[in-house]
Amino acid sequence: MSSPLSDQKLAALLDRLHAQSDKQLAEIDEYCVSLEQKDAFDWCVFNDDMHQFFADKMVALDRDKAEFCYQLCRALGASRVVEAGTSFGVSTLYLAAAIRDNQAEEGLVIATEWDPGKAEIARGNFREAGLSEYIDLREGDLRQTLRNLGGSIDFMLVDIWEVAKPALELVSPYLRTGAIVVCDNTTVDRGEYDDYFEFVKDPVNRFRTMTLPFQGGFELTVRI
Ligand SMILES: C[S@@+](CC[C@H](N)C(=O)[O-])C[C@H]1O[C@@H](n2cnc3c(N)ncnc32)[C@H](O)[C@@H]1O
Repeated sequence: MSSPLSDQKLAALLDRLHAQSDKQLAEIDEYCVSLEQKDAFDWCVFNDDMHQFFADKMVALDRDKAEFCYQLCRALGASRVVEAGTSFGVSTLYLAAAIRDNQAEEGLVIATEWDPGKAEIARGNFREAGLSEYIDLREGDLRQTLRNLGGSIDFMLVDIWEVAKPALELVSPYLRTGAIVVCDNTTVDRGEYDDYFEFVKDPVNRFRTMTLPFQGGFELTVRI
């Protein structure tokens, strides 16, 4: 049985990318504390200074959460996956590895990133891992790029803070029964996800949901 880490080339690339992202976390914490002290911090309202600061920040999904996504995609036998928020493509690599390892016909991760610089770096990482053929990286605002998904979806990763609910709302009609949606940081930043939870908990949308005790909270939602 293969896992992302038994692919030596991928394991080495992921080690490098996680190390790079972890190094930036202290810088990000410091920046957020300085904004909080000025009472100017709001994840949902990015000003120019915040956009500039985050332009080269990866904010990659934690390794344990990313490996958990890989496991879930393997358990589901997932062939069609959506990722909202790609950045340098760390989590995308785990998802694409699961698709590859599932040997699904025409398997695909539909990923999306609006920053062209980050998208270019992500494409380089996909090439280096030999996983490009499993990834359709759609560049632009996800409120546009996730409009047409071309078929049913088995798994979705929401790794984004400003537009989690619009992302889920767009993908929801494509989620098959039993599909899983995971969303990062739903405990630590709970206030930013009110509209997301309202959507998930509306019975019309046919979800069951629970918060998993990963750091910061990791919401696991199933289409019923
Ligand atoms: C937390 S990061 C994603 C990290 C990535 N999943 C990983 O593990 O490496 C969120 C990303 O979403 C992008 N983003 C923010 N708003 C967006 C939008 N409306 N449409 C597309 N991408 C967006 C940001 O530029 C940022 O790179």
